[in-house]
Amino acid sequence: MSSSPTLLTRPELIDLHPSPGDVCAAVGQGLARQPRQLPPWLLYDQQGSRLFEAICQQPEYHLTRLEKCLLQRHGSHIGHCCTEHSAAAPVTVVEFGAGGAHKVTPLLHALQPAAYVALDISATHVHTACIGLQALHPQVPMVAICCDYEQLPALPDHPLLAGQRLGFFPGSSLGNCSRAGAVALLRHMATLLGPGSLLLLGMDQPWSIPAMEAAYDDAAGVSARFARNLLLRLNRDLGANFQPRHFAYQARWDASEQRIEMALVSQREQVVSIPPLETVVHWASGERLITEHSHKWGPEDVRNLARQAGWRAVGRWCDTQDRFSLHLMEHGSLSQC
Ligand code: AVJ
Repeated sequence: MSSSPTLLTRPELIDLHPSPGDVCAAVGQGLARQPRQLPPWLLYDQQGSRLFEAICQQPEYHLTRLEKCLLQRHGSHIGHCCTEHSAAAPVTVVEFGAGGAHKVTPLLHALQPAAYVALDISATHVHTACIGLQALHPQVPMVAICCDYEQLPALPDHPLLAGQRLGFFPGSSLGNCSRAGAVALLRHMATLLGPGSLLLLGMDQPWSIPAMEAAYDDAAGVSARFARNLLLRLNRDLGANFQPRHFAYQARWDASEQRIEMALVSQREQVVSIPPLETVVHWASGERLITEHSHKWGPEDVRNLARQAGWRAVGRWCDTQDRFSLHLMEHGSLSQC
């Protein structure tokens, strides 16, 4: 075998991070909702990203293990399907919410892509991950972009974003969105990825209620710390004075909405000051602050949502119990793999 040139440059970081002003606006709007609800991206400061990685290792949280297993087992078949659908040209892999970039390796092996672009809300986290990944894949040029999903249609015109693209959106992260939000996000992705692009979407599916609730409220209490870290972040970034111990964490299945609702429940009547909002926030005893929703959509649901955003199913891979799916979709075509 001929040896290809080794690039091993340090992957660049493009930082479009939402400013503290945006945190303030998000909190102002979220606390004005009934019930109160903050956008999930606020959970992922440095400590939050670390806690989320710890959640992924909890025995109750099956998603990460099932998905990694699927990617390892079916990576080459998925790669084969992608190549068939992209005129044999090497693709650029664009991962949405890459975090520690722990999942993409089987795809990089199978596809040998022209480039890898990692998008995430946490700048240092995604940049460090890319630097580590670069050492494992010296031939694949990489760039980390720190942004939120709102910024997707207006990403910088970077050379590594050129060419035929495969979007990779693992972890069932789409489930954080409402149905309408999911369709909008899938449309944003289509706009960024361009005509004829592919998307590999990892989705957790409905399962037994106790198993789902345990996945979001592990015995070690990591999920609870992850949610309470949101309050610590607001104390730090906005000079608020939340007392995390006066809020109890709760994760419960909402059958009518097909989602786990994660909330911090005020344990007493209390007042919290958030100086930049120029007001204090009153909490009744039992009042909830929803930290996030995790929707569980089966294959048919996913295909319907995707179709509304112009994506058509190409293939699906799942575990033996059909708990978790990898959906491969193509933008604007009808062919099957
Ligand atoms: C990152 C949105 C996929 O919903 O399973 C896990 C977030 N929060 N435990 C999920 C989460 C608490 C996770 N997603």
